Amino acid sequence: MKLQNKTTISGHQLSLALAGVLVACSLGLTGCSDPAAFQVNEAYIRAVEFKSDVTKPLMAETPETELSDVQIKNVSEVLEGLYGTPDNPNLPGGVGLNGFLSLRKLKVAAGPVTYSGDKDSLTGLESGLYRRHCAHCHGVTGDGHGPTAQFLNPYPRDYRMGQFKFKLTDADGTFKKPSKADFDHILMEGIPGTAMPSFRVLSGPEREAIIDYVIYLAMRGQTERALIQAAYDTANVNGEIDGNSEKILVRFNDDQYVSDDIEAIKEIVQPVILPWANGGNGTVQRTIEDAPAGWDSDESVEQGRKLFFQSKANCFSCHGQTGLGDGQTNLFDNWTLEHLGNEPGDAVGSADDGEIAGIPEYFYHNELAQMGVVKPRNIRPRNLRLGNYRGGRRPIDIYQRITGGIEGTPMPGNTKLTQQEAWSLVAYVMSLPYEATSRPKTAPSFQGVGTNK
Ligand code: HEC
Ligand code: HEC
Repeated sequence: MKLQNKTTISGHQLSLALAGVLVACSLGLTGCSDPAAFQVNEAYIRAVEFKSDVTKPLMAETPETELSDVQIKNVSEVLEGLYGTPDNPNLPGGVGLNGFLSLRKLKVAAGPVTYSGDKDSLTGLESGLYRRHCAHCHGVTGDGHGPTAQFLNPYPRDYRMGQFKFKLTDADGTFKKPSKADFDHILMEGIPGTAMPSFRVLSGPEREAIIDYVIYLAMRGQTERALIQAAYDTANVNGEIDGNSEKILVRFNDDQYVSDDIEAIKEIVQPVILPWANGGNGTVQRTIEDAPAGWDSDESVEQGRKLFFQSKANCFSCHGQTGLGDGQTNLFDNWTLEHLGNEPGDAVGSADDGEIAGIPEYFYHNELAQMGVVKPRNIRPRNLRLGNYRGGRRPIDIYQRITGGIEGTPMPGNTKLTQQEAWSLVAYVMSLPYEATSRPKTAPSFQGVGTNK
């Protein structure tokens, strides 16, 4: 694959890019019918259509207002103008990226896998890195729906919500975007206890290219969501159906409006980009002060144990009386909740026979699965006696999980604990794999059959 010698993109190129799509599509040029295409986020379209319906009918019924095909096509065209295609990525200009991502790196990570040894003349790297190493799990679109995905537990991350779990940027009860260093940590270590492998074998420049590409896919996915929401709002006036299913975001066919429309698109894209790019510098990892002396002493472990069961920390309510992860077992992560028609944080029923997480099984198979939705399943609070820490096993990692939380999951970031208390919980958590499980208070007793003595 030949790489273009173009690394920067300037403000006005956003509009050029948009106009480019118009031309390519109307002339029926290849750009619109590339073999590798990004999948439309149909599941989110559906979620938006239902979210806005206050009566929240069962997800199995037809929503009151639906986006028309024209509107959905318009969203795809705008997206392609901004971000290009899987074989030919692009970056939106004039929206605050400020060189945060490099188009050259994206082009190395993107594209089909090449076996001919075709290398970029400047970097000496092969292209197609993402499709070679990541797509079979995370999908070409980054929707977490590659061919292997359905067989894994947990499922591979769907990047399109822009939410990530394991990072050192979260603090003070708010979730921030991961830094590139966070992503590199994930690529070096993998996520222990899950299918996410370590990519230590890749060179530094290869990992850098892939990291830019993952962020690109996340931004693209978030932008798509924002555009879908905007398209829905445009079609819907004062809560009533406008009746105009032709109302679209950019009126490509009407020169008179295009520049206004492009301004409107910028306003949608900027809030997606800025939290990531932060003026081109990315998100900054928080600095965690060194653990206080004696943080892992017996007294500290004992203090942690007490806190574990107190309302201030409240760990036991999810992780269970004995830390086995059996406290609250009907929870869902944000990726799943969306498809079930619930707001993040809601707890709904568990997956029973004939029903999957409260929705009829036939409905999942006939509808949701067709849209690339993986089968909903509960997220279990971690069994803390296994000593498996997905976000890393250094004390500082556990400290960060407890005080920063795990985005996209019910695991909250605790802002009420003092530093010293949080460290005592780290000590307690890390002692759990070595502590004998005491008899659970709720243990069933079978009359006459063996006792728990
Ligand atoms: C064999 C399947 C598999 C492959 C291949 C794979 N991943 Fe993953 N990945 C996963 C799974 C599963 C998770 C979710 C783990 C979890 O939720 O705890 C994940 C999660 C992630 C996350 C989210 C981390 C976070 O903090 O939320 C990133 C980023 C990621 N993978 C990047 C990559 C990249 C880049 C590649 C290719 C270089 C790749 N993965 C290849 C399975 C895979
Ligand atoms: C509302 C439920 C809830 C509460 C309260 C809760 N957790 Fe969690 N916790 C979870 C869930 C769910 C996960 C699994 C997240 C995942 O799979 O990505 C988790 C994961 C963890 C992990 C694993 C981190 C890793 O890297 O794998 C640790 C350690 C942990 N929790 C400790 C605690 C401690 C200590 C407390 C109390 C301060 C606490 N949790 C409170 C739900 C909760």
